Parts: sequence; structure tokens; C-alpha cells
Amino acid sequence: MQTPPSDDPIWRFIEDETRRQENHLELIASENHTSSEVMAAMGTALTDKYAEGYPGRRYYGGCEHVDEVERLCRDRAKAVFGSEAANVQPHSGTQANIGALMALLEAGDRVLAMSLDHGGHLSHGHPKNFSGLFYEFHAYGVERESELLDMDKIRAQALELRPRLLMAGASAYSRTIDFEAFASIAQECGAQLMVDMAHIAGLVAAGVHPSPVPHADVVTMTTHKTLRGPRGGLIVCTKDQIKAINSRTFPGNQGGPFMHMIAAKAIALREASEPAFRTYGAAVKKNAGLLANTLSEGGLRIVSGGTDNHLMLVDVSAVGLTGAEAEDVLGQVSITCNKNLIPYDTQPPMKASGIRIGTAAVTSRGLGEPEMVRMGKAICDVLRAPTDASVAQRVRSQVKELTEAFPIRATVPS
Ligand SMILES: Cc1ncc(COP(=O)(O)O)c(C=O)c1O
Repeated sequence: MQTPPSDDPIWRFIEDETRRQENHLELIASENHTSSEVMAAMGTALTDKYAEGYPGRRYYGGCEHVDEVERLCRDRAKAVFGSEAANVQPHSGTQANIGALMALLEAGDRVLAMSLDHGGHLSHGHPKNFSGLFYEFHAYGVERESELLDMDKIRAQALELRPRLLMAGASAYSRTIDFEAFASIAQECGAQLMVDMAHIAGLVAAGVHPSPVPHADVVTMTTHKTLRGPRGGLIVCTKDQIKAINSRTFPGNQGGPFMHMIAAKAIALREASEPAFRTYGAAVKKNAGLLANTLSEGGLRIVSGGTDNHLMLVDVSAVGLTGAEAEDVLGQVSITCNKNLIPYDTQPPMKASGIRIGTAAVTSRGLGEPEMVRMGKAICDVLRAPTDASVAQRVRSQVKELTEAFPIRATVPS
């Protein structure tokens, strides 16, 4: 950052966080490092503008320029994901899900979604979340042995339960999700299909994960994970659904859209449509595969045996640690990740038996194959000797070498 505009301590905290990100290897699977152009769009005059409504139909004057921004963002979303329609206003992934569920369901309706304990998300039926409070959620999970989704079992469960909505998508599932199979189950049991592709949106945009868009009634996503945009949500859907989606987003669950964020989403979507993003998506996946292999060769157990996307769950119970301890030990050597339940975990969520690791952010700063192997070995060393100060010291200096060699925003489009 340049010279802070004032001596407000907030600027010091922002500088501290900027430095922390620069000096750490960011392995939180839901995070990424945006381009300078995405970053710049967020700090513009658009933040000052109220624009309740939609382009051409606003409740405020002076919207002619932000209308252009939102139209272009919508067009880019449709082009990137090959959808008939898009709503780019959701402030977050959760708010995209609120809008989608309100559009597809009546209060109290039955939904079948992935179990939160097996990798689903809070907004897919947690009892204290709006979803669990207002709808009747039931859960499918992964198999105990394979730790994979078994589509035949999900089909049987759906046929018995007859939900009004079937949901696919996860926060911590490392395997390809078979959206076509989900669509056929939904059709068989007379349900609608909603896919929350928050985590894999960037991989879908890059063409390295099958797209749910041709198969689902509504697809929600976040823009800030693998898609590498600003924090926010986005919904793509069919022409039949867009009227309900629009009205449940505004006025359904939001007021004025964040036009500065919509401008930044538009820039991220332009970047996602460029050939370099295909290369990026392929590198994210390749890096995750290499990292999973290195960790597994180093004696750590990868849930389901590997990864097909940007993330993996690592069972750290085999090295005598809880997920919380592993998160802490890695944090001390400047590697950031998060504790995570593994399927059939016997630990409570705040301890957990696993950590979740993703490669979207480190790939954005340019780390490639040799660095994945180096980083993977370092993670194994630290987790196998969590109290050894000399190991921690060695790994800290390895991390320093990597973060200095690969500065953030040096390689992402700027
Ligand atoms: C699958 C899934 N859906 C929705 C969300 C919610 O996104 P947000 O944090 O923007 O509300 C997440 C966030 O991690 C997620 O993983």
C-alpha cells in the first residue's frame, strides 16, 4: 500500500493484514488473491451509489452509468457460464442461496442436500441457519469406506423422501460431482435441482470441471473463491427462473446492490473468459493433485484417497493431532489452512480430525509443481514433528523463500 491517507489505526491494521498475506502461504480452500484490476474497482465512486432495482428499472435517479456496469456484468456471467440468465447482485454466497431457495420453494418445503458434516455448507440446512430454520432439510452423505458420494444411494434416498428440491454442491468435497446424475435423480423423483458451485466456479469457468449449468434449474456461486473475483455471490439460471430469482434477490432479501462489487465481478468475469484463466484453472487442479500425492507419500491420509479439484481434506488423526492443533502448528510456520471435520468424524467441529487445504491462492501467486512438492514435504515435516523447534525454524525459512520468490499480484492479470 502507498502512504496511508491518515493516521487512523485502521490503516495500520490493513497494512498488517496485507503483510500477513504476503508472508504466508494461503491454503484456505475458499480464498484467493484477486488481480490489481479487481482490487481497484472495489475502491471507486461506485461504492457511493444507491441503485435499488435492476438496470432500466431503478428506484433512484442517476443510475445510467451503473446500469451499464450491471448489464455488462450480467452479459459476461451468461457468456462465461453459458447460461440463459444471470443475477449478479447477491452480496454473498449465502445471500445467493437465500434468493435461490426463496425462488424455488415455499416455507416448510422438503429439501435433500449434502450433509454439513460430510462437506456441505451452513446454508444447505444447518439448523441455526435460515435454510434449516425455514425449510425441512434432509441430508445425504459420503460412504464410510470410499468417502465418496454414491449416486445409487442418493437416488434411493431421494425416491423415498420425494423432496421438492435436490441440492448439490459442497464446501469440502474433493471429487468431481456428477451433475448429470443429480439431474436425472431430480427428474425421477419430481424435484427441482439447485447446484451451489461456490467452490468450483472458477474451475467450471476454466473448463476443468464439468459444468452444472446445462443440468440445473438454478446455479448459485461465490465470486471470491476459485473464480478469483471480489467477495460476493452470483446466480445463473434458465429464462423460466430469472423472474423469481430477481424478485427474491431484490426486494426479496436485499436492498441496494453493491455497484462497486458488481464492477469488480465484471472484471473478474472478463479475466475468467481469457485464455490465461484456462491455464490457471488447469494449474490449480494439477497443483492440488501434486500436493495431495506429496502429503500422502509423506504419510498423511487424504480423505477419499485424493482430489479432482482445487482442494483436499487431510486426516491428521493418524499423526496424533486434531485439526485445530494442525491448523495452529502450520500457522506458526506461516502456512494458513483451516481445521475441518472429516466424514464420520468423532471430534467436535472446533477440534475436528482434519484440515482442509486448497491451491487456488498459491497458484495465483505463481507457485507450480516444484513448489507443491517442497511445500507438501514441509507440511509433512511440521505435522510429524509438531513440537520440534528446529523443524519449525527450517520450514519457516523455506516458506519465506517461497513467499519472497512469488509475490502476490505479480503473476495474476493486472
Ligand atoms: C458451498 C458454499 N456455498 C456458500 C458459501 C457461502 O458463501 P459466503 O461466505 O459468501 O456467504 C460457501 C462459503 O464458503 C460455500 O462453501
